[in-house]
Amino acid sequence: MARTMIITGASAGIGRAVAIAALEQGYDIVAVARRQPLLDELAATFARADAIETLPLDLLEPGAPALIVAAALRRFGTIDVIVNAAGVVAAGGIAEQSDSALHEQFQLHVVAPLALLREALPALQATRGQVFFIGSGVARVPVPGLGAYSAAKAAIRNAARSARTELRRYGIIVTYVDPGAVDTEFMRRAGFAGAHKRFAAPPKRVADSILRAVQRRKAVVNASPWQTFAVGVGALFPSLAQAVVTRFPAIAGTQRLPSTKMTAASPPPEPLTYPAEEAARPEKPSRDPLDAALGPLARRMERLKLSRGFIIALLESKTTLTMEDVALRWAGMPNKNERALVHDVLEALSDGGFLERCGDGRYAVVRTA
Ligand SMILES: NC(=O)c1ccc[n+]([C@@H]2O[C@H](COP(=O)([O-])OP(=O)(O)OC[C@H]3O[C@@H](n4cnc5c(N)ncnc54)[C@H](OP(=O)(O)O)[C@@H]3O)[C@@H](O)[C@H]2O)c1
Repeated sequence: MARTMIITGASAGIGRAVAIAALEQGYDIVAVARRQPLLDELAATFARADAIETLPLDLLEPGAPALIVAAALRRFGTIDVIVNAAGVVAAGGIAEQSDSALHEQFQLHVVAPLALLREALPALQATRGQVFFIGSGVARVPVPGLGAYSAAKAAIRNAARSARTELRRYGIIVTYVDPGAVDTEFMRRAGFAGAHKRFAAPPKRVADSILRAVQRRKAVVNASPWQTFAVGVGALFPSLAQAVVTRFPAIAGTQRLPSTKMTAASPPPEPLTYPAEEAARPEKPSRDPLDAALGPLARRMERLKLSRGFIIALLESKTTLTMEDVALRWAGMPNKNERALVHDVLEALSDGGFLERCGDGRYAVVRTA
């Protein structure tokens, strides 16, 4: 029977390379990221399309890790490996970050990966599985101008050590990956030049190191050992290291791209946006049919913490839904408000063409999100 690997951040960069390497080695995979077209493209590239479950999901949404584990078990029945490769880097001084920028860094790099581990624990115990946390050199030598990114990476590095010690008795391996500089869109997305191509490893190299670490059940992966060594030396001389990364931003790739350099005359660049973020902007009408259907309920959903990711997974199930079942699945012991919201959501999804009313309070899924 094929082994199952969950990969977050599978639409691009390191996560995508891991997904491809895992498929080539015969794994069944659950590929998670926000950009569905890129996940579809990944699935379409492979002849073994039945080996891929794509899950378009925002890891900032509450409950996302539980949805991922449920989707993996429903589709493949087992979880052997988890690779937490989703991430975004921040830009700006750490003392200038908004609450949501701080939240994003810790949610994406620390909370979601740890919650995914927690949700998958029984399944990982059953397979004596392995979990990968992707760190960074900045976990040991923080780089100024990256918001809370360095702090979040330091936290996950520390958490990986705790988890490794605690889970050893269950036969679960916890692996910390220092990828070094990698040639992906990661830094450029945030308006930085990124490391020089000569020093940046191709994502495939990191992916191959991760797949090798599965075979050898390794606890640490240093994909570019000389870079890890240099960071280790920097950690021994923190003041010198701080002076160097501040004076020479090219070392960490944090020099601003010319088009994004901020001057009094030029406004800050438009950030890259995603469908969910577009929908959150009231002035722009959403073009995403799901957001359009749920738009009037967005505030209530946010208040009661009914996530968009939950709805997407619901529509993936392609079965008949009842208000009771959905409310139980979402809230466990739903109260009056929660039941009312589920009812209104099911009605809105029917009006939006995702569900068909079958009578007796039943709804058939007729379209995925
Ligand atoms: N590249 C480097 O030089 C470097 C160096 C050290 C460490 N790292 C670490 O390596 C990991 C992967 O980086 P990368 O270089 O592969 O970056 P990348 O090419 O930018 O890919 C990042 C991935 O994360 C996904 N993602 C971002 N926000 C998400 C969210 N809210 N919910 C779900 N998925 C989300 C993105 O997919 P969608 O946009 O489709 O959601 C994408 O698939 C990150 O943890 C990063 O910190 C990278």
